[in-house]
Amino acid sequence: MKENLVIAVLVSGSGSNLQAIIDAAERGEIPGRVGLVLSNKADAYGLTRARNHGIPTAVVDHKAYGSREEFDAKMVEAIRASGARLVCLAGFMRVVTPVFLRAFPHRILNIHPALLPSFPGTHGPGQALRYGVRFSGCTVHFLDEGVDTGPIIVQAVVPVHEDDTEETLAARILKEEHRIYPVAIRLFLEGRLTVSGRRVMTRDTTRIPDFSRRNPDA
Ligand code: GAR
Repeated sequence: MKENLVIAVLVSGSGSNLQAIIDAAERGEIPGRVGLVLSNKADAYGLTRARNHGIPTAVVDHKAYGSREEFDAKMVEAIRASGARLVCLAGFMRVVTPVFLRAFPHRILNIHPALLPSFPGTHGPGQALRYGVRFSGCTVHFLDEGVDTGPIIVQAVVPVHEDDTEETLAARILKEEHRIYPVAIRLFLEGRLTVSGRRVMTRDTTRIPDFSRRNPDA
């Protein structure tokens, strides 16, 4: 049953993308539900958001493990126990190893606050601002072994204003993240994505109004 598809969401902080995913699922815009929120930080606000919706949570503290592989193996165990069909990284600030990737092949998504392949890693909005680009944005992509290098599913463009600070630009990008992450999840769970090399082909997106790569609004 599509409605029962379980999504595991990994967070390290505020979890506003997690909230957008929960809300979209509750509105029936995603054919699945968040069945686990896992964090590497016990005080991540994303865990509180999950509890507010009665969603099970787990904390796997990376500092408690001797290697990245051991940490990843513990996360894999928790995610497998949840029965998740899809794993979504949403502001999860750890680089995962092949132990994690191989456990969920082609089933892990990530969101990044820049128009990849520009400005991967941390502080995407700050990097874009300092570089001087006129447009930045956000990207949902499949996770692979690199840092923010996996095949791209959806992107949204956000104009950079001359009076932007890292904070104002990041806030406008975040708003678009909340719009495109649920769209990418829906496409995945409805089986509309095919990966061909680096390219992700999407089938039958006409009924998804938000799928179009929106033009800049300024
Ligand atoms: C988001 O902007 C997300 O794209 C970014 O962290 C923020 C988390 O916000 N992720 C990265 O930079 C990963 N490289 P949230 O916790 O409110 O969803």
